[in-house]
Amino acid sequence: MLRTHTCGELRIEHVSQEVTLCGWVARIRDKGGMMWIDLRDRYGITQLILEEGITSPELLKKARALNRECVIQARGMVAERLSKNDKIATGDIEIKVNEITLLNAAKLPPFLIEDETDGGDDLRMKYRYLDLRRDIVRKNLELRHQMAIEIRNYLNSLNFIEVETPVLIKSTPEGARDFVVPSRMNPGQFYALPQSPQTFKQLLMVSGFDRYFQIVKCFRDEDLRADRQPEFTQIDCEMSFVTQDDILQTFEGLIRHLFKKIKNIELPPFQRMTYEDAMTYYGTDKPDIRFEMKFTNLTNIAKGKGFQIFDQAEVILGICAKGCANYTRKQLDELTEWVKRPQIGAKGMVYVRCEADGTFKSSVDKFYSQDDLKTWVEAMHAAPGDLLLILSGKDSDTRKQLSELRLEMGSRLGLRNKNHYSAHWVVDFPLLEWNEEEKRWFAMHHPFTSPKPEDIELLSTAPGKVRANAYDMVINGVEVGGGSIRIHNKELQALMFKTLGFSDEEARAQFSFIMDAFEYGAPPHGGLAFGFDRLCALFGGSDSIRDFIAFPKNNAGRDVMIDSPSFISEAQLKELNIKIDLQ
Ligand code: AMO
Repeated sequence: MLRTHTCGELRIEHVSQEVTLCGWVARIRDKGGMMWIDLRDRYGITQLILEEGITSPELLKKARALNRECVIQARGMVAERLSKNDKIATGDIEIKVNEITLLNAAKLPPFLIEDETDGGDDLRMKYRYLDLRRDIVRKNLELRHQMAIEIRNYLNSLNFIEVETPVLIKSTPEGARDFVVPSRMNPGQFYALPQSPQTFKQLLMVSGFDRYFQIVKCFRDEDLRADRQPEFTQIDCEMSFVTQDDILQTFEGLIRHLFKKIKNIELPPFQRMTYEDAMTYYGTDKPDIRFEMKFTNLTNIAKGKGFQIFDQAEVILGICAKGCANYTRKQLDELTEWVKRPQIGAKGMVYVRCEADGTFKSSVDKFYSQDDLKTWVEAMHAAPGDLLLILSGKDSDTRKQLSELRLEMGSRLGLRNKNHYSAHWVVDFPLLEWNEEEKRWFAMHHPFTSPKPEDIELLSTAPGKVRANAYDMVINGVEVGGGSIRIHNKELQALMFKTLGFSDEEARAQFSFIMDAFEYGAPPHGGLAFGFDRLCALFGGSDSIRDFIAFPKNNAGRDVMIDSPSFISEAQLKELNIKIDLQ
């Protein structure tokens, strides 16, 4: 080794030892008579000291020629520091250097390699390898590594085996667009990159593997957000001979194991909430239940009093913001503008302040008497000092909008503490959802999800009412994972494809491999997949999964460091039989 110790290792007990360290020059302070160099590596920072009169003039000259981020090897004696630094682990000691070797020079980096950097997002992404030298970014990847180890430990202890599935496959219908790869040897034909290994893990169950997992890259060509990347990682799992309850228990166990091992937090057993309740009380299938603020449906009691907007609305829903009756007119106007932003899309907002003296002050006083308002206040279990915020309109739109407002109020009231975790399951998802544009049913999870046996007969009469044996895990309002009990019977799978509008030929052309497999002894099975990047971000207290991916893409799906995607040469295109017309 070129070094005897790392830059994070030396303590007071090493004093008087001769050591050799290697690393990057993080900072140089030259006070003339004394010179200090902070030497950094993955493990920490160690201070080197050079002193005029003690250090040789040649060595001082050499040290003065160094600049930030060059790579050096330094040899010297560990000494106790006169003024200690309790902010770093090596702060009790310094190295009295007697030899420095420049291992490689470095240009001045385009931004400061410190926790508080002066580099903007784009610049840091272009030089991501330098960004990764920063402590906070590296710690995120260390957390990711620790989590991967603990996931493997837990699943291995339960007899799960990790099996790799192919990356060049045929489209898996998960609902997003596929990334495709042209095949040179099969002109005009394309592989698709997996949106998930869904069909392969089911085939592994047919093969008898019984308990499978894989920490695996998945690819989806969809619009990007803070919690979405075009390539992301799943903890993909499948089990045979299990009920839904077995799956929920097993994977609740995995998450609790992670919280215990990584954060030393003992999570209570997870609540289970039906999809219907989630939509009724929170307007979303991934409610943040760190705080209450449930929806109250005021449709029946608020209609018919001459207020056109409510009278014409399909639904009138409200939330109660505890202790917010003191919101000023200006604050309420600002909140109204907030819900009217295009991202939220509400037409307006009605408020009722519950004054301390028991009276009510609302934005619709013209239409509603104190007695009318009292019925709302009672329905919402509000008390003096509270503020009611009410939205109305089309059912699905209003739920979405109020859900956003609820989260915003939760944040403003400090009810969404990042260090407080609330995990739960949402169960009984509908099997299908209607797509108005295409005028057909789509699978809400994917076409391999099993309907609840008691709802199967509704498939032909009322498809929208069929509930699935499907579930999502939600932590702090983030959908961290989801899955289902699968169909393992060829006839039911055929019926499902038919309901989704596939002809027999289309179903055969796309899925004959799995339909055939179901004829060779497919065990009952089910599973789920977690979004690994999302779990890491949640554990790391960040909203952005990019911080937990070594080389992420930007919001336009580009890797600005390697400059990809990029054009390919005419020769390559020709070889692939591809003609491009960018007109
Ligand atoms: P699903 O599509 O719900 O299920 O994906 C599982 C989990 O993966 C995460 N996720 C993403 N994370 C980052 N970027 C993305 N673009 C992205 N898309 C999804 C989410 C999500 O909960 N095959 C099924 C699982 C199963 O049924 O077993 C599937 O892929 O956290």
